[in-house]
Amino acid sequence: MEGHPLRMSGSHLMLELHISVRKVFKKMKVFIIYDSIYGNTEKIAQAIGNGLTGEVKVVRVGEVNPTELKTCDLLILGSPVHGGRATPAIDAFIKKLPANSLQGKSVAAFDTRFESEDQGVGLRLLMSVIRYAAERIAKDLVKKGGRLVAEPEGFIVENKEGPLKQGELERASKWAKEMNE
Ligand SMILES: Cc1cc2nc3c(=O)[nH]c(=O)nc-3n(C[C@H](O)[C@H](O)[C@H](O)COP(=O)(O)O)c2cc1C
Repeated sequence: MEGHPLRMSGSHLMLELHISVRKVFKKMKVFIIYDSIYGNTEKIAQAIGNGLTGEVKVVRVGEVNPTELKTCDLLILGSPVHGGRATPAIDAFIKKLPANSLQGKSVAAFDTRFESEDQGVGLRLLMSVIRYAAERIAKDLVKKGGRLVAEPEGFIVENKEGPLKQGELERASKWAKEMNE
């Protein structure tokens, strides 16, 4: 009976209360890591960050601090699609993550890509075969122990160097908000 709340001393009860309140209000730490050649994926990464509450960091893949990565609750990775895949820098980053290092963490993945309907028949067919980066990244993050909390998503660029299709920044924030719910 010693630990029963009714038998606790006042100070013990206050301590318990303090711990419970901290658990409820603890800010979720979010790490958004991206690669971007022409700046479009970077803009989407920022928009995703704006859609999330908590302690959000948006960092280019080459500038990641491994200690910060260890402490995050949600890891979101994004890349431009290059030949159906993520960029070599994103692939290398995932490969370097130790086995099971994402255990206990939520994960999600996105990419920027061409709209397949805007392409000619040949390219459309090719794109349907080689697919996209986001689904590959998501699979890899799950393999490292992460728990997928959103469907992999692609955001559309009008040309190789951009711009982003109208409304994509808003769609990115909305995609992120759904993770918070
Ligand atoms: C070498 C190269 C290969 C690409 N391959 C694809 C592709 O397979 N599928 C696709 O949808 N877009 C492809 N794209 C278009 C990129 O998705 C686009 O350049 C990117 O979204 C722009 O993002 P960024 O500004 O962050 O670099 C390719 C672009 C480059 C430069």
